[in-house]
Amino acid sequence: MPSSHIQQTEIVAINERHPDLMLLERASSLIRQGELVVFPTETVYGLGADAFQSQAVEQIFAVKGRPLSDPLIVHIADEAALDGLVTAIPIEARLLIQAFWPGPLTLILPAGPRVPRLITAGLPNVAVRMPRHPIALALIRAAGTPIAAPSANRFMHVSPTTAQHVLADLGGRIPMILDGGPCEVGVESTVLDLCSPVPTILRPGGVSLEELRAVLPTVQPPAISSAKSGIAAKELQDSPDVDAQHSPGQMLIHYSPTVPAYLYEGSVEAMRTAMLAAIQRYQSEGARVGILIADEDIQAFAECNAQMYVLGNTFEQIATRLFAGLRTLEEAGVDVILCRSFAEEGLGLAIRDRLCKAAGGKVVKL
Ligand code: TXA
Ligand code: MG
Repeated sequence: MPSSHIQQTEIVAINERHPDLMLLERASSLIRQGELVVFPTETVYGLGADAFQSQAVEQIFAVKGRPLSDPLIVHIADEAALDGLVTAIPIEARLLIQAFWPGPLTLILPAGPRVPRLITAGLPNVAVRMPRHPIALALIRAAGTPIAAPSANRFMHVSPTTAQHVLADLGGRIPMILDGGPCEVGVESTVLDLCSPVPTILRPGGVSLEELRAVLPTVQPPAISSAKSGIAAKELQDSPDVDAQHSPGQMLIHYSPTVPAYLYEGSVEAMRTAMLAAIQRYQSEGARVGILIADEDIQAFAECNAQMYVLGNTFEQIATRLFAGLRTLEEAGVDVILCRSFAEEGLGLAIRDRLCKAAGGKVVKL
């Protein structure tokens, strides 16, 4: 049955250290039959199909509601699989593969002739990654084919880091979710273009710019900062629009929660003060406010009556909990989400990128 039809979604727990082999066999045979299977990776859950079956790949777009113009990442379990996917493996790729695979790094390489056009969206290049989650690797091996997979969310929604997130977005549209528990990294892989004149990050992610540069010093940061549009605090104060929707048609439309979000940026003190003032303003209008904060902010917001979600302390904790935080606040029924920002080193660059996208570019610069 085509996966876009209403169907029962089976959600099955699978232990990453002792995976049930019968279960892996069932999941991989669904892949071979051209069906979709959701599986855990170390970054986020993926919605997988056999990369060499165009009809199966087409189902991915249908199930997600994703436009065909957005290309997909192909997941492999061993380097030899690259041969069937790309026409060249430059020395830069070899070095990065040795350092970061399996792991949260996606490489853009020249596509081979067997790669379906749907995967590359007609581009001459293909995105490839070797995930390090044992279930992802075991599924790819058992299927005996590379697996094309985007994040397993509805188009424009926040990426899923638990099987429950997937069920909320895609339940009834897919046959099976392999539930491997919460994802370790929590933000998607870093996408690095090795087909441009200089290696350039297209999407910051689980492997940081600093880590990449330690292996390949020429790596460039993302060309267009997702922070390009800022809102002056004053402007925002003048027009507190709880109903404001993020502006579509920009590159900032991904990862959006269904409620408007604002990112606050400045010194920790300035962020707290501005967020507390905004909370009061929204509450005086009868709006329910959700806030995304760090451990160190708990005291400052203890009395404000906002729905708080505490992301943690280190970049690693914050990245792991970020998408769950956005979804939790959304499900709590808040009218607006206010997020503080974090430093931009290491994983902080990816965190900032996702927060900025969740806010649809609505950054309050202090
Ligand atoms: O961590 C991840 O990367 C997750 C897990 C499931 O592996 N996957 C993921 O896929 O985030 P998706 O489809 O949500 O994001 C893929 C990103 C998109 O920004 C897409 O535009 C870019 O990779 N991409 C894919 N193929 C490309 C290509 N040939 N050239 C440039 N960008 C490409
Ligand atoms: Mg995605």
